[in-house]
Amino acid sequence: MRIFLYSFSIAALLVSCRPGGDYQGTEYAPNMYHSVAYEPLKQIKDKSAGNWVSSIDDNVGEYYSSNPNNPYEMNMRLPVENTIPRRRYTMGSGDVYFEAERIHKDSLAYSAANLKNPFPEGDEMVLADGKELYLTFCSHCHGKTGGADGKVAAMYPGVPKYDSRAIKGVSEGHIYHVITHGKGRMWAHGSQISPDDRWRIVRYVQKLQKGES
Ligand code: HEC
Repeated sequence: MRIFLYSFSIAALLVSCRPGGDYQGTEYAPNMYHSVAYEPLKQIKDKSAGNWVSSIDDNVGEYYSSNPNNPYEMNMRLPVENTIPRRRYTMGSGDVYFEAERIHKDSLAYSAANLKNPFPEGDEMVLADGKELYLTFCSHCHGKTGGADGKVAAMYPGVPKYDSRAIKGVSEGHIYHVITHGKGRMWAHGSQISPDDRWRIVRYVQKLQKGES
């Protein structure tokens, strides 16, 4: 008999924990769900939320985190008008907007097939900038003309020639991904070179792939 009583109470307990509607259900270790710090995109407007764990006598619960001056139930402020997002490409087709660095570093094949250079091919200015950037960031390993004869390559083996059979056919998205995230023994350069400058370098590397310089 007792076993029935126990199982009934346990079942009743479990059912009462179930979430529904706005109710999140009974929370175990609530500090893991509710940030004590301000959350940028969320306000907890119920002043009594978390009353029961509050240890400070300020008449509001532990989870209350609202900045009533800010609209849209957010704690952060809206950016001022005409703010331009970083990493927005406005070159090429005008609205190519691709946060390529968000692509996971393991997704080289995806980048290789999908990323397109916003800079047109054969643009002299882009090539000149690309060359200068290449000489700054890449040539010490890859060599001035991509022949894998940079000074560092002498100490750091494994640098491929761009016009080698393995590399001369790789796509612009592939090169962009390798600059951004690195590959094998090559380190990532995404944090040092802006997206636009990476695409400029890609245009120049494509020349080197064809054995031009
Ligand atoms: C510290 C030396 C070093 C620097 C600096 C460097 N690379 Fe590399 N790079 C390597 C090595 C080593 C490899 C071979 C990676 C592997 O497969 O292990 C490589 C490979 C590559 C590849 C071929 C990737 C593939 O698919 O096999 C490309 C393209 C490339 N680098 C472009 C660049 C560009 C562009 C820059 C400048 C932004 C650059 N690298 C800077 C050392 C370097």
